[in-house]
Amino acid sequence: MSLLIRNIKCLVQVRDQVTKWVQGMEMGDLPCLENAYLFLDHGIIEDYGAMNSLPELQPNHEIDATDRLVFPSFVDSHSHIIFAGSRENEFVDKIKGLSYQEIAGKGGGILNSAKRLQNTDQEELYQWALKRVREVISLGTGALEIKSGYGLTLEDELKMLRVARRLQNETPLTIKTTFLGAHAFPQELSREQYLDQIINQMIPAVAEQGLADYCDVFCETGFFTPNESQAVLEQGLKFGLKPKIHANQLNLSGGVQVGVKVGALSVDHLETVGQQEIDALKGVDTIATLLPGAAFFLGTGYPPARRMMEENLPVALASDYNPGSAPNGNMPLILSLACIQMKMTPEEAINAATINGAYAMDLSNTHGSITKGKVANLFITKEIPSYSFIPYAFGSNLVDQVILNGKLIEHSTI
Ligand code: NIG
Ligand code: FE
Repeated sequence: MSLLIRNIKCLVQVRDQVTKWVQGMEMGDLPCLENAYLFLDHGIIEDYGAMNSLPELQPNHEIDATDRLVFPSFVDSHSHIIFAGSRENEFVDKIKGLSYQEIAGKGGGILNSAKRLQNTDQEELYQWALKRVREVISLGTGALEIKSGYGLTLEDELKMLRVARRLQNETPLTIKTTFLGAHAFPQELSREQYLDQIINQMIPAVAEQGLADYCDVFCETGFFTPNESQAVLEQGLKFGLKPKIHANQLNLSGGVQVGVKVGALSVDHLETVGQQEIDALKGVDTIATLLPGAAFFLGTGYPPARRMMEENLPVALASDYNPGSAPNGNMPLILSLACIQMKMTPEEAINAATINGAYAMDLSNTHGSITKGKVANLFITKEIPSYSFIPYAFGSNLVDQVILNGKLIEHSTI
């Protein structure tokens, strides 16, 4: 099955070679090709170039993209898209003045979602998550990392990860999975008992059943301490799960340093960082993943993206789609928040949500840019004047057609 897209007004994020990531000032450069064609075959990007050099091709299908742009799909490297029910009652509590931690203290927050998830069977959980997956696909996401962490018992954590694996097998999205048993402490067990369970039961079981690529911890005041986080991530590593960490969301928690120490692929959130955290991220292979949707929803400060780029760090952007702090997986909106609230330029934000997101999911070789040989995951926009129009027109869905694995997605068939 081959597909030719012709007359593309602007082919965005075109890179001749696989790039690990873009960092610092490089992030301001977004390579594009005007008036271009793109040829996909067997689910792979075969060729691209200027329309006036279009070779003789015999595609099975053609799309005319006159006045429209083509982007590589967004790579959303941080989500909690599997959950049961929603938490808009806590949203109202927050409007009335309660903090995220006060809500958690009252048995709300993560424990509230855990209770509901424990009472929801695997099929129903899958159906909830599938709806959200369909939605994010229609908004331009082509690869998604999915975390567990609302199970908090061995069986329920495994249930979540099985749902994630089923989404991986039955939808066209590229998916990586993360074990986040260390998301909160369940009320039924002591701290020591639950940590022991994570380390000696959950991680070995998750690894043995091949259910996760990564291991993550919510390192935060009131949740997991830096020492506890390190112990969990080191055990994950022993069982072949690469570390990721929720770090420095609400407090200067020491999470960034723990992440760097264990060689985490990414340190995520970073709303509260100082010079020490920024220095810790220099010269290492750990990427800073920023989640402006959570900062927006909780009304916290935003991570200092500009400062990080000025200090020559790479920055990735992701949605954090979850019921408590970011009930939305809309990556174009994440671009708007990054530009408006964190003063990232559209070029920087698009790089952060594509090529750098791919790094944060170990997908640099296959996703995140228009590069020959990469997976043909992309979207065609509606008629818009330029790529900057996407973050500018905040809240609009400007994604017209989605192509995953070289195939045009008919929404009803996912
Ligand atoms: O990434 N910070 C921890 N986990 C989520 C929030 C989870 C929840 O409130 O349900 C986050 O923001
Ligand atoms: Fe998160």
